[in-house]
Amino acid sequence: MRGARILSTGRALPRRVVPNSDLASVMDTTDEWIVQRTGIRERRFVEPGVGSAELGVLASASAIEKAGLSPADIDFIIFATLSPDHICPGNGVIVQEKLGMRNVGALDVRNQCSGFIYGLSVAEAYVKAGIHDRVLVVGAEVQSTGLDMTTRGRDVSVIFADGAGAAVVGPCEPGRGILSCHLHSEGKYKKELMVDAPSSLDPHRVTHEMVDSGRHFPYMNGRYVFTHAVRRFPEVIREALDANGFTLEDLTLLVPHQANLRITQAVGSALGLPPEKVFSNVERYGNTTAASIPIALDECVELGRLREGDLVCLAAFGSSFTWASALLRW
Ligand code: COA
Repeated sequence: MRGARILSTGRALPRRVVPNSDLASVMDTTDEWIVQRTGIRERRFVEPGVGSAELGVLASASAIEKAGLSPADIDFIIFATLSPDHICPGNGVIVQEKLGMRNVGALDVRNQCSGFIYGLSVAEAYVKAGIHDRVLVVGAEVQSTGLDMTTRGRDVSVIFADGAGAAVVGPCEPGRGILSCHLHSEGKYKKELMVDAPSSLDPHRVTHEMVDSGRHFPYMNGRYVFTHAVRRFPEVIREALDANGFTLEDLTLLVPHQANLRITQAVGSALGLPPEKVFSNVERYGNTTAASIPIALDECVELGRLREGDLVCLAAFGSSFTWASALLRW
């Protein structure tokens, strides 16, 4: 069987930079609290009228161009987001239309912070099986329009942000590229990090009560999420290394989902990895959920942090709970 590798990456960040001081002007919080608890100093928010599909389109166009391809070369689209433009249709078809692609399949993935790795695993399987040659994997979010920007929502709203990243996956020789992906879920924790409404469980789907009580805003049990994240990240990273006969010493770079700096640091020290082997940009972009890993990868490429032959581990943890890893020979 042939291998599958990331041929190129792209990213799209809104131009509007929102420092912690901007949040402190609309809710009871401080730059000091946010930096100390999350490591985040600023994030990007879209201008009104820009949705996650548009950011995804921009990131995709960049990734496709960097691969030396045109949109017509893409055989399949995978779009991961928790903040699609619409409940229906999904964002994948919007990328197909906006980039003028052929009438290829467009799959929407909804695994929140793990969404990009879930999507990558599908691309890996299609390419390795010889079903598709050029698969576009997108992670994009516009969270800013769905956050409670009052003191009531401050524990969540200071963390999440907008952005998009994309990768083109194509064939390579066996033993290179994406070595394996490892996906997990534990739905019994779904209420610990969720957006409850609108809901098909409700006879009216959207009600004034939902909006008045803030059920359309994300709810997060922060301590609970933290405790599980710092256990699951190391577990799934070790799983990826074990599955391929590698140890932590073999790892060149860990690119974790940018949840928050304290989680990333706790994971790094639990694994005994030096800080230079753990990539972080959460300080500048906040937590962009499904977009954080492809944005980070694109920055790593640009910064020369990823070189041919490097052993790279991607890892994520998030709502539901779901968690995942991917081991790559770059
Ligand atoms: N600014 C100022 N104070 C805040 C605040 C904010 N933005 N958000 C919460 N607080 C307050 C709380 O109300 C609480 O006040 P109280 O002691 O008077 O009740 C106090 O700060 C401490 O809250 P606590 O929840 O104990 O803080 P924490 O140390 O657990 O940190 C998180 C909160 C959210 C930063 C932390 O739990 C965390 O990082 N969780 C993981 C979140 C995450 O990464 N999610 C994404 C996963 S993909």
